[in-house]
Amino acid sequence: MRSFIDIPDFSKDELLDLMVLAEDIAQSPEKYAESCKGKKLATLFFEPSTRTRLSFEAAMLELGGSVLGFSDPDSSSASKGESVSDTTRIVSCYADIIAMRHPLEGAPFVGSLSATVPVINAGDGGHCHPTQTLADLFTIKREKGSVDNLTVGFCGDLRYGRTVHSLISALSMFENVKVVLISPEELRLPEFIRKGVLEAHGMTYRETRSLEESLPELDVLYMTRIQRERFDDVTMYERLKDSYVLTLEKLNLAKRDTCVLHPLPRVNEISVKVDADPRACYFKQAENGKYMRKALILKLLSKESLSSTENNEMFESEKHYCANPKCISKTEQEITNYFIKDKKDNIRCAYCEVGAIEKED
Ligand code: NCD
Repeated sequence: MRSFIDIPDFSKDELLDLMVLAEDIAQSPEKYAESCKGKKLATLFFEPSTRTRLSFEAAMLELGGSVLGFSDPDSSSASKGESVSDTTRIVSCYADIIAMRHPLEGAPFVGSLSATVPVINAGDGGHCHPTQTLADLFTIKREKGSVDNLTVGFCGDLRYGRTVHSLISALSMFENVKVVLISPEELRLPEFIRKGVLEAHGMTYRETRSLEESLPELDVLYMTRIQRERFDDVTMYERLKDSYVLTLEKLNLAKRDTCVLHPLPRVNEISVKVDADPRACYFKQAENGKYMRKALILKLLSKESLSSTENNEMFESEKHYCANPKCISKTEQEITNYFIKDKKDNIRCAYCEVGAIEKED
């Protein structure tokens, strides 16, 4: 059985196939109207959401299935202290597939280890958000014709912006993609993506603070919200919250066919006046998310995915520990100390990908 926890769970060909399927679903939704008849999707949302949860639910309903779940963790047994692992094990008795969002990094992965149905990561803390990436890739493909040979700029909160991490991970599978990282010093891309993905795949990238200076070279501009809920220091948030605002004047420095994306919700990163510009693709992106989520549900519930045996390269170690206080391994009871080796042989926590620390004897 396969789950979808992080982008590398799928090959490039599988991502391309999902986009082909999503295009067909978008063109002929009636063909798929009964594809999930009798199947149930459980949405377990331990963090707020509008687009992700509702598009998952709409996707399953449009496939002829039904949905159950919660959007407020205080109404679930998590508030009584139930572990993530027990929650997904139990929900597996009631649903055929689970979509889970959680504030702790690695929580959906932990859930997938005890679930007996496929688990989809709908966002885990500041780590990753692979189904948003499906929406992003499909939008880039539809708007630019291909995901290859593009210069993609990421602007804003690259440190806590989980959608940025997953999209960079996906772009590393495509040909000749250049990345421009636009952020304040405090919100630079974390090491597990900079070293673990960009450098490990030999991608061309540069870091800058200036949006204006970068705009003329970008084929895609990916704006992000400064993630207030992830800051430990509120004063730092207040200082950084208005770092970048895309106005029409600034957008005029960009190419005529630059595609402007944003996972949404926006706070004030994109002026409302930009919405009418043909380069603004973020509302289409939200719609595209539903088509890709329909394709994903169909894939994970297919006979082939349900019968597949997973091949995970993680290993147990008592000699290492995870340094990330926001990792699920810090709170989940009796969790196994699993680690992975990245392409450069660095040892990382298998749950949140932060570099592991070797214990002193
Ligand atoms: C994003 C998220 O939750 O990470 N939203 C979404 O799922 N579309 C981005 C954000 O909250 O800023």
